[in-house]
Amino acid sequence: MRLIKEISQMKDCRKKIKAPQTVGLVPTMGAFHEGHLSLIRKARQQCDKVVVSIFVNRIQFGKGDDYQRYPRNLSEDISLSEKEGVDVVFAPSLEEMYPQDYSTFVQVGGPLSSTLEGASRSGHFKGVATVLIKLFNIVKPDFSYFGEKDYQQVLIVKKVVDELNLDTQIIVLPTIREKDGLALSSRNSYLNKEERKAAVILYKALEKAKLWIEEGERNPFSIVSKIKDLIKKESLAKLDYVAVVNPETLEKVEDIKGEVLALLAVSIGKARLIDNLLLIAGRSYLEKKEKKFSIERSIKKCE
Ligand code: PAF
Repeated sequence: MRLIKEISQMKDCRKKIKAPQTVGLVPTMGAFHEGHLSLIRKARQQCDKVVVSIFVNRIQFGKGDDYQRYPRNLSEDISLSEKEGVDVVFAPSLEEMYPQDYSTFVQVGGPLSSTLEGASRSGHFKGVATVLIKLFNIVKPDFSYFGEKDYQQVLIVKKVVDELNLDTQIIVLPTIREKDGLALSSRNSYLNKEERKAAVILYKALEKAKLWIEEGERNPFSIVSKIKDLIKKESLAKLDYVAVVNPETLEKVEDIKGEVLALLAVSIGKARLIDNLLLIAGRSYLEKKEKKFSIERSIKKCE
């Protein structure tokens, strides 16, 4: 496995990989957990060469966000990458990616980027889109791997790739959860024991929403209000937002028909956590999941 820190070296390395060999990119900010590893394993399964980027992207953090204390564990990430059969870890420095006079950014317009995370974290998606375009240009991946936990990010990345005519296929994999349902996140490491217990409230709230819909609830406002009440009862949790939306546009729905997505952001101690769940009125969630997995399974493997 190669560790590359310079953009020029990464580009040279990429140039040597010729079609029909395929390259999979797993873009990360490091501090790996099973969620990252599931993306790496899928890339390993599907592609001839796997590149994992590790870069804590300063420009997607706002003022007062956790850029300084975001967990960093490069040596552990490198050894995990090696174990998983990664070909290249690309870990550029901040100066390498954004030299002093850096001034080019990708601004994603429209409601998709101004709602939910976009509303709470101004400039966040501009930072995400900018770094990803840079990574796509440097690594030129045939396939790029993202987790469904960052649902809004995935929709935005797909839009950027589509609208800027980029040649990478976005592969999305399900959220990996702890046994009690807490979605894996590098930010879970901020939680102390008590906060960790409290953090399960995000998943519990989403599971409740699923149950209410299965029981016949069709009013999204009532679901949102019941989730707010649930979160209020958890004294360590501070709700940022909860919404029931159209899974494609993220627009709020007026009533629940077919598929909807429930998502929420909650602060617990120093951690701001997000989670989401696809909910289906009229069909059980597991049935839908099974359908999703089979679509996922049917994705053509790279030769
Ligand atoms: O999801 C993340 O870890 C980051 O937003 C990403 C996609 C690596 C861009 O910095």
